Amino acid sequence: MNFNYHLPVNLAFGRGRFAELGQTTATWGRRALVVCVDGSATRPGGFVDRACENLQAAGVTPTVFSGVVANPTFAVVDAGVAALRAADCDVVVGIGGGSPLDAAKAIAFAALNAGDMADYIFGRVAPGDALPLVLVPTTAGTGSEGNGFAVLTDTRTGDKKSLRGPMIIARTSLIDSELSQTMPARVLAATGFDALTHCFEAALSATANPVTTAQALSGIRLIRDSLPALYADKLQAAGSVDTSAGEHERCTLPADAACVLWDKLAWAATLGGMAIGGAGVTVAHGLEHPASGLKDITHGAGLAAITPAVFELTLERADGNLRAQEQLGALAGACGLDSRDALPRFVREFLADIGLDVTLGQLGIAADDIDWMAENALKVSSPGIASHPVPFDIDDIKEIYRRSL
Ligand SMILES: NC(=O)c1ccc[n+]([C@@H]2O[C@H](COP(=O)([O-])OP(=O)(O)OC[C@H]3O[C@@H](n4cnc5c(N)ncnc54)[C@H](O)[C@@H]3O)[C@@H](O)[C@H]2O)c1
Ligand SMILES: [Fe+2]
Repeated sequence: MNFNYHLPVNLAFGRGRFAELGQTTATWGRRALVVCVDGSATRPGGFVDRACENLQAAGVTPTVFSGVVANPTFAVVDAGVAALRAADCDVVVGIGGGSPLDAAKAIAFAALNAGDMADYIFGRVAPGDALPLVLVPTTAGTGSEGNGFAVLTDTRTGDKKSLRGPMIIARTSLIDSELSQTMPARVLAATGFDALTHCFEAALSATANPVTTAQALSGIRLIRDSLPALYADKLQAAGSVDTSAGEHERCTLPADAACVLWDKLAWAATLGGMAIGGAGVTVAHGLEHPASGLKDITHGAGLAAITPAVFELTLERADGNLRAQEQLGALAGACGLDSRDALPRFVREFLADIGLDVTLGQLGIAADDIDWMAENALKVSSPGIASHPVPFDIDDIKEIYRRSL
């Protein structure tokens, strides 16, 4: 055994710890850019109001930048840097789902690194430092709070790829599962499945190490224990598939039991982010990014469409491949299965349980898009695809897309 593991993030985990935001941020700066999306987070009394009050009480002046969109683009980063410069901010606080957290990372980086973001993402220019970052996740999904990735879309090319490096690892991440409790059921399902795929892919990666594998397998068990139960509870509380704001804040589980489940899911998401931070993602993410880069679809839904076919083709090719068999066996064990062959059915049933049994076609992808997506997958995701235990070439990638349509 021979490996390195380095993850310089201070994780502050626990219900109610959002209240530490001001005190924590004051360690790193005096003027904070608060990066978020416009919507429920910025409503009066919402997360952002509470964050600003807390920052002010600790002597930190907040400036809110609410211009983040889902699947953040380079233009979002440019607008955030302009807001940061106008207010002379010296620290960046990201609050929300993966989109604002990743945008916060990229803004903190671009504030100190001029030029075209694509040059840093594709490794043509060496990255410098970033401003200090404090991250507060409000979805239990991306795990961005536990790694040095910021996924960005270049709308000039459709390339969706991560800026990567230790400079964009948060100085502190405050993980308070009370915040994620207000997710509507469809956001809970999509972000929770994203977390599950991080664990799947990290567990299968050729660059996995004993730390990332332990994180990934533990994350899978925690998500199995919590996500379907929390999703069912949301639906029961709303009386139907959720549609209206407000309904999703209700819950029918006893408060103590619900808190345990929300904590499990939040911790699993952070573990998944840490696991991919060390082991990388593999094929499902590698093939999802071209889909959401092309059609701006919800990341977790895109993964839900693709992941079953990835498992099917992987198992079809695993005969005689000892590494693949061993990794798939460990993953099946964490899923509570006796055999790796049961994995595709397990994933399909899990997705049905959380209302996320979707196809790429339902998400707006057409058969005509497959050639572009397959070529783009090899352009933006070739290291991840190469880390999969079974080699996939461009024809295999097209086959996975076809089966996922
Ligand atoms: N950095 C990483 O390691 C990493 C990993 C996976 C995905 N990503 C990226 O993260 C982005 C997706 O992030 P996401 O899945 O968290 O979604 P998101 O940040 O786009 O948020 C989805 C929706 O949920 C709402 N929301 C968030 N928290 C809420 C809450 N507590 N209550 C009610 N509504 C809430 C948001 O307002 C938004 O409308 C994509 O760009 C994806 O590529 C990053
Ligand atoms: Fe993801």
